[in-house]
Amino acid sequence: MRASVSLLSVRSLTKRFGGFTAVNQVSFELMPGEILGLIGPNGSGKSTTFNVIAGLYPPSSGEVLLEGIPIAGLPPHEICRRGLARTFQIPRPFRKLGILENTVLAAYYGASQPVTRAQAERHALDALAMIGLPGHPDARVEGLGAAGLKKLEMARALSTRPRLLLADESLGGLDESEMAAAAEMLRRIRDEKAVTIIWVEHIMGVLMKVIDRCIVLDHGEVIAQGAPSSVTRDPRVVEVYLGRDAAQVQQQADAASGRQQPDAAGFERASEAASGRQRA
Ligand SMILES: Nc1ncnc2c1ncn2[C@@H]1O[C@H](COP(=O)(O)OP(=O)(O)OP(=O)(O)O)[C@@H](O)[C@H]1O
Ligand SMILES: [Mg+2]
Repeated sequence: MRASVSLLSVRSLTKRFGGFTAVNQVSFELMPGEILGLIGPNGSGKSTTFNVIAGLYPPSSGEVLLEGIPIAGLPPHEICRRGLARTFQIPRPFRKLGILENTVLAAYYGASQPVTRAQAERHALDALAMIGLPGHPDARVEGLGAAGLKKLEMARALSTRPRLLLADESLGGLDESEMAAAAEMLRRIRDEKAVTIIWVEHIMGVLMKVIDRCIVLDHGEVIAQGAPSSVTRDPRVVEVYLGRDAAQVQQQADAASGRQQPDAAGFERASEAASGRQRA
């Protein structure tokens, strides 16, 4: 595939639940090899966008193309078999099965062609090794903490051997060093497995270091997209995260200091605080 061909095209995607519009005319292109950040306040439509792209819900209107082929409305297993895997915000592994068995099941589920047990196990062991989870048949799911469960979620997605991975808030509940390791893991997945990634994450400080490009949703609509540094200076984005007053104060401060360069760090700190407030 030529690098200039979109891996994923999302065109005027809209998802309504009854009279409520959760995703409104969202459009973007994703190039092979990108890590795209999808951010926005709580309830802005990030997970719903993932759910529609991955086939959990049919769209109300709009198109989703994977390598130019329409996939919107196909069932999730069909979309997964075409090379699109996702992680869920809340991991729900089969707790009575071991780590390996959970991952083998995902490998069966996502395989584009029927696979033998040996092949599924090879895909699972490969994914577990990449993620750093034990591949021993006796390794249990019980006892995995938040970080372990997130890793298992990622290993299950990877064992389907995707070309595109939708990762939904994979850092929630992790400590600082676990977050840094998880972000580095996403970068390795892209670099070593040639997996293109869309990453939904509230922890901006970590996200911004890894992503190539960023899309910001608010009330289901794209309000900004571009390089992380420019998006975090966008007045609409600042306003959405911090409120109108903060946006004005920041603009005035910028004007007073004559600052040209984006100061993403301040935005990151404040957006995390805002996210924490909304979640509380
Ligand atoms: N199945 C559903 N039925 C009705 N409303 C829904 C459904 N799924 C999501 N919504 C609503 O759609 C809006 C967007 O939700 P969504 O989960 O996509 O937000 P989000 O950006 O992922 O938020 P968060 O950061 O909290 O995970 C919310 O108002 C939510 O309540
Ligand atoms: Mg969500």
